Amino acid sequence: MTDKTSEHTGDSREWCPPRRLGGLPPYPLADVPDIKARLLAEGRTVIDLGVGDPGLPVPSIAIETLHEAIGNPVLSKYGFQRGLPEYRQAIAGWLARRFGAEVDADLEVLPVIGSKEAIALTALAVLDPGDSVLIPDPGYAPYFGGAYFAGADVIRFGLRAEDGYLIPPDVIRRARGRLRLVYMNYPNNPTSAVAETGYLKDVVSACRERGAVLLFDNAYSEITFDGFRAPGLLDIEGGREVGLEFHSMSKTYNMTGWRLGWATGNRRLIGALRRVKTFFDTGAFMALQAAAAAVLQDPDAYIQRSLEQLERRRHAAVAALRDAGLDVQAPRGTLYLWFPVPSEEKAEDFCRRLLIDSGVVLLPGSAMGPGGEGFVRASLAIHEDRWEEAGRRIQEAL
Ligand SMILES: Cc1ncc(COP(=O)(O)O)c(C=O)c1O
Repeated sequence: MTDKTSEHTGDSREWCPPRRLGGLPPYPLADVPDIKARLLAEGRTVIDLGVGDPGLPVPSIAIETLHEAIGNPVLSKYGFQRGLPEYRQAIAGWLARRFGAEVDADLEVLPVIGSKEAIALTALAVLDPGDSVLIPDPGYAPYFGGAYFAGADVIRFGLRAEDGYLIPPDVIRRARGRLRLVYMNYPNNPTSAVAETGYLKDVVSACRERGAVLLFDNAYSEITFDGFRAPGLLDIEGGREVGLEFHSMSKTYNMTGWRLGWATGNRRLIGALRRVKTFFDTGAFMALQAAAAAVLQDPDAYIQRSLEQLERRRHAAVAALRDAGLDVQAPRGTLYLWFPVPSEEKAEDFCRRLLIDSGVVLLPGSAMGPGGEGFVRASLAIHEDRWEEAGRRIQEAL
């Protein structure tokens, strides 16, 4: 990439982007919105399998509660970091139901404005410049972003199919430098791999041995199939001491745009993250927190219904993409299918050509790190009835 962002011109009065921005990876397919707009203007339809947003209905109790809460002037004030006590208590209740663990709603729960921001900011709460951070590659962007902006030595571990896309605990034990933070995410975006409890135990031990904090991103904990139940740090002895676990209303309750989630775990880490966030934000809108509290207190029939729809999509997606000639496995978790590029092209080139020729958007694996090159991600973002057409369009473009 030509590093325009770090190019300082001779004229010192003209603002230039800082060198730091030049160190960020380029975003493959930044031209997708323009291509999509052009196709739509030409009267063509676009099937977008690029985004992790299933578009399923939000729980009705969220909407009902928000209607009422929005008229309450108390909830229009700043939420600050502790937010609405009812939201934190509802989170503790949800964690108790889900993991059978008791969590202190004041000291071990931190409301966040969607988990993305706080996942990135955790690096600032945990690291000194020069400390090492281990991140999965491919992996969710804020892992790199947080570590990079914190001035850390970022170690990308290339996930491999032969390891089940897990980071082997010995990689943590042997990582270079002063390893202080390990980012981990299962069920995994983008590979859809899941982790068993035994594996997580080994990871917790390895992090303890290294004195590293484990950030366990469990955004997809409830999106699993074939009877698999995703473990979390609260399932593991010593798990909550070693790190933080993040959950999100986005995927579990189809509330992506509401921007709500939470961190739970080690109370000193919760305190440090809260302190950092004090300098960046003033908390989520409390009427939204009230609505999320109502959702979390509701029995979990919603999740079951939503999973049934995703299961039908998964079934249709696997069948359609296999018929199209793609080497697709049925995922055990997440909203994603992860498969090799079916040509000699780079992932980005394949995806751009596919979009132009067939109007189908896929995410090139390389958008999630160099380790994703050679792979493509499709989301369960469309109704089960549309997969046949998506598959047919892809097949015609191959
Ligand atoms: C791995 C991972 N973690 C967390 C999130 C959730 O983000 P948020 O809670 O900010 O919507 C996502 C969303 O795409 C994700 O893929």
